[in-house]
Amino acid sequence: MQKREKIDIEKVPERELVKELYTASKANWGVDDGFYPLGSCTMKYNPRINEKIASFREFTFLHPLYEEFAQGALQIMFELEEFLCKITGMDAVSLHPAAGAHGELLALQIAKKYFIEKKEFQRKCVLVPDSAHGTNPASASMGKFQVKEVKSDTRGNVDIEDLKSKLGDDTVAFMVTYPNTLGLADENIEKVIELVHSAGALVYLDGANLNAIVGLVRPGDLGFDFVHLNLHKTFSTPHGGGGPGGGAVAVKKFLEKYLPYPRIERKHNENSFLYRLDFSNAESSVGKIESFYGNFPAILRAWAYIKLLGDEGLRKTSQIAVLNANYLAKRLSEKYHIPYKRKCKHEFVLSEVGLGVKTEDIAKAIQDEGFHPPTIYFPIIVRGAIMIEPTETETKETLDRFASAMLKLFDLSHQNPEYFERVPQKQFVKRVDIVKANREPIYRKMKSNQKKAD
Ligand SMILES: Cc1ncc(COP(=O)(O)O)c(C=O)c1O
Repeated sequence: MQKREKIDIEKVPERELVKELYTASKANWGVDDGFYPLGSCTMKYNPRINEKIASFREFTFLHPLYEEFAQGALQIMFELEEFLCKITGMDAVSLHPAAGAHGELLALQIAKKYFIEKKEFQRKCVLVPDSAHGTNPASASMGKFQVKEVKSDTRGNVDIEDLKSKLGDDTVAFMVTYPNTLGLADENIEKVIELVHSAGALVYLDGANLNAIVGLVRPGDLGFDFVHLNLHKTFSTPHGGGGPGGGAVAVKKFLEKYLPYPRIERKHNENSFLYRLDFSNAESSVGKIESFYGNFPAILRAWAYIKLLGDEGLRKTSQIAVLNANYLAKRLSEKYHIPYKRKCKHEFVLSEVGLGVKTEDIAKAIQDEGFHPPTIYFPIIVRGAIMIEPTETETKETLDRFASAMLKLFDLSHQNPEYFERVPQKQFVKRVDIVKANREPIYRKMKSNQKKAD
């Protein structure tokens, strides 16, 4: 590994430091630079008003123990919990987890405590579909559960027979993503939930993909017992990649007492409300999983986003996300292989089948066309997966430009496969050996006159 040059930051003139940081920021790519169809990650546009609200001095200078004078902040948390209950069809919410994976871990701790109290000590196994996001089995392992994988069927649903064979009196929970990571709504979801319940286990929703169904379907109505939401994917906040984000967990009534403390309580106080931190469930709770009450800026942005859009706006947002994904899937299916030929939700997955080059080559080449590459090689059940999520804020013109570029690359992969050996050409970092780059990252100081693309 290359040794990093040590810089005494105090001796660097401010002007030089600003130039350096500005140049570094230009070497990056974000949703404000252009199309960022990173499937599963939901690179959602974060309305500017949310940033403004999250940076109000009244919030940023608030001390977390200032309960008496933080009525507004407590009110916002209380209201967000109410909004999320309404959206999910659940009964209670904790805003404490700071990421989706963190929410999964909390949920599994809740499940553990629930079964310990029921004296069902033999329940040690968590079921996870083979299409699941990697954080699902990782969270189950961190929670000291055994993990069993459940296969998907040929339509991208949970394979019912495989599920039956894995379910037993040792099952704690089945972690289901709905819509799943193929961008598909499981056609047998009610049957899946019924089967898991009849084995005495809980059904957990990885609700990271809720941005496809907000205002349209409520997980609580489908029968899920608990769910985590990625506030940073569904209700704005730039995606944190494991944090800092918001991984709120919503539960049905019978699991409420296990939520982390303190909870937020609202009491009538003459003609107004009084908000308080409530520690009364400290005994029954799984404990604390985050300092104080969660990642407050993400909570603020989610609250502002929901207030801004309202019921109708939230529903329309989901519908447009789904429309955008289906439009793009239809255009790309002219040439690309789509393994599951069904209407998708907010994202869809192409495969490498029929391409003249590898998936990785397309991901490199698309950068020179002016787009961030899609997620690749995930979900792992699709050969050479190319996973595309266009989000709801992209225009038809952007989707068309992206579709044309992808279709052009498909043709080029057959006409001139050698072209792909040299891409990307126009990027700050050229073609690297991805395995080596992972193991031996090169940290090099950028020259201030170096541009993103040359
Ligand atoms: C389906 C799914 N589950 C879980 C997660 C984990 O969320 P986080 O990155 O916030 O930990 C993600 C992340 O995008 C996801 O797409």
